Amino acid sequence: QGPEAVSPTGSPTGAPEHSRAQSGQYLTTAQGLRLADTDHSLKAGPRGPILLQDHHLREKITHFDHERIPERVVHARGAGAHGVFRSYGTAANITRAGFLAKDVETPVFVRFSTVLGSRGSADTVRDTRGFSTKFYTDEGTYDLVGNNIPVFFIQDGIKFPDIVHAAKPHPDREIPQAQSAHDTFWDFVSLHTEAQAHTMWNMSDRGIPRSYRTMEGFGVHTFRLVDAEGATTLVKFHWKPKQGVHSLVWEEAQIINGMDPDFHRRDLADAIEAGAYPEWELGIQTFPDTEDQMFEGIDLLDPTKFVPEELAPVQAIGLMTLNANPVNYFAETEQVAFHPGHLVPGIDVTNDPLLQVRLFSYLDTQISRLGGPNFAQIPINRPQAPVNDMLRDGMHQTAVHSGVAPYRPNSLDGGCPFKAGADLGSFVDVPEAVAEAIKQRKNPASFDDHFSQPRLFFRSLTPVEQDHVIQAYTFELGKCYEKPVRERQLLALANIDASLCAAVARGLGLPAPEATEDVPDAQPSPALSQLGKTWPVA
Ligand code: HEM
Repeated sequence: QGPEAVSPTGSPTGAPEHSRAQSGQYLTTAQGLRLADTDHSLKAGPRGPILLQDHHLREKITHFDHERIPERVVHARGAGAHGVFRSYGTAANITRAGFLAKDVETPVFVRFSTVLGSRGSADTVRDTRGFSTKFYTDEGTYDLVGNNIPVFFIQDGIKFPDIVHAAKPHPDREIPQAQSAHDTFWDFVSLHTEAQAHTMWNMSDRGIPRSYRTMEGFGVHTFRLVDAEGATTLVKFHWKPKQGVHSLVWEEAQIINGMDPDFHRRDLADAIEAGAYPEWELGIQTFPDTEDQMFEGIDLLDPTKFVPEELAPVQAIGLMTLNANPVNYFAETEQVAFHPGHLVPGIDVTNDPLLQVRLFSYLDTQISRLGGPNFAQIPINRPQAPVNDMLRDGMHQTAVHSGVAPYRPNSLDGGCPFKAGADLGSFVDVPEAVAEAIKQRKNPASFDDHFSQPRLFFRSLTPVEQDHVIQAYTFELGKCYEKPVRERQLLALANIDASLCAAVARGLGLPAPEATEDVPDAQPSPALSQLGKTWPVA
């Protein structure tokens, strides 16, 4: 597939079709007025002062003054690419989503990111990586907004500002740093022990990927697929890189940060430019949509838990190929707006309390980041399905709507084919019973287990990988200067695995605390031995 197959805008280069040409025989103002001189401002005599009358100077400088938009509050640093997704059709028996039918090709735009650094920060820091995919389907845009780690720090989105405040650079110095290298991060994760699982993945080699091309991607939450008859299946989404899963070692990451802070961006763009198109298989783990939404003792609504692939193999459902670089970073990678609530018929959300808050957060933040409510009109965000919304006006409106402002019901418009509620290929929310209609700020008891999964993960690693984890904890906790915080984090490690705790405590010159929870004997876990493998389609 050449680049012409993957443009979200119909242009062979992927460039927005409404892009201003910025070419031609004459230089002009934004109004099309031909310019005789753009190098000298209009002055009172050769030595000035400059005259306020110089409308070209004022237009040029004013526009420049407003060239930047706010960076994302998280995931500010990223790299994007266009591509195509070809569905195998293997999920067609459990979802009516048209783009998952056999051999359907759908253009995509992917943005990879770090989480905590600012737009100009370095690529190879120890951090989680974002892995967002926009599928421009015939039935509307579907966004899979995932990470390269299958679990998350918190179970309830109300804590998202807390974890981000604790992990971002401190406000006094604003020094970009790895998320783990300060006291507030360790304070938060040792107090909120539900964060221990994600932290363990960050301390592992997964926290410093070799390349965006060698990362797995995870939807993290459990989603719900819906077939043509309305039957539902719970699923977790996985991206499996055809390039394999590879990481850097810490020393490499440090040297690369110094020598080439754009290492991951460059790697992705260079590979695509050279025709070495990276590929990922999209896979799903499937679970029966039972009343309790548990699988093998794991609460599927708890986003701090993953389901080992040995218990639920990942079944491949399609292949994504990234085959074109953005033409304009700002227009595409910066202005793209992903949202877990961009759904298509056949894919629905669940009551995962982290996902539920995300459904509010993304649209809200994009209204301020992209300057008002009309950012779906920006070329990279435009759906490739017909749009007949009822939205009007607002900041940065570019459409010229005609006729009366739309309202429904309406008996005067000559009988629009629009039928509210009719299933003309429309999205229908899955009806779901509300279990307990008692207003409360409380988690289910199944969310209380915070240590079994980091233990499962740690014990599944090879000795070399475990050694990297020990070194990472020792190094990062060595940067945590509050002794009580270090001690509390060691206690969390004691509750995960005694050998891990002892090794890190030794490195820090502190005594290893006794576990306060039941810790099963250390033995290699079979459950994760298959992690990272691609399974055949069932
Ligand atoms: C970006 C909020 C959890 C993955 C963002 C942005 C916000 C946000 C405000 C910036 C969006 C923009 O400016 O366009 C939240 C909240 C969360 C949460 C409130 C928890 C309640 C997660 C989780 C994942 C995730 C669990 C992974 C499964 C991402 C990614 C981006 C992002 C990949 C970058 C999207 C891009 O490349 O433009 N998040 N997030 N977030 N979030 Fe989250």
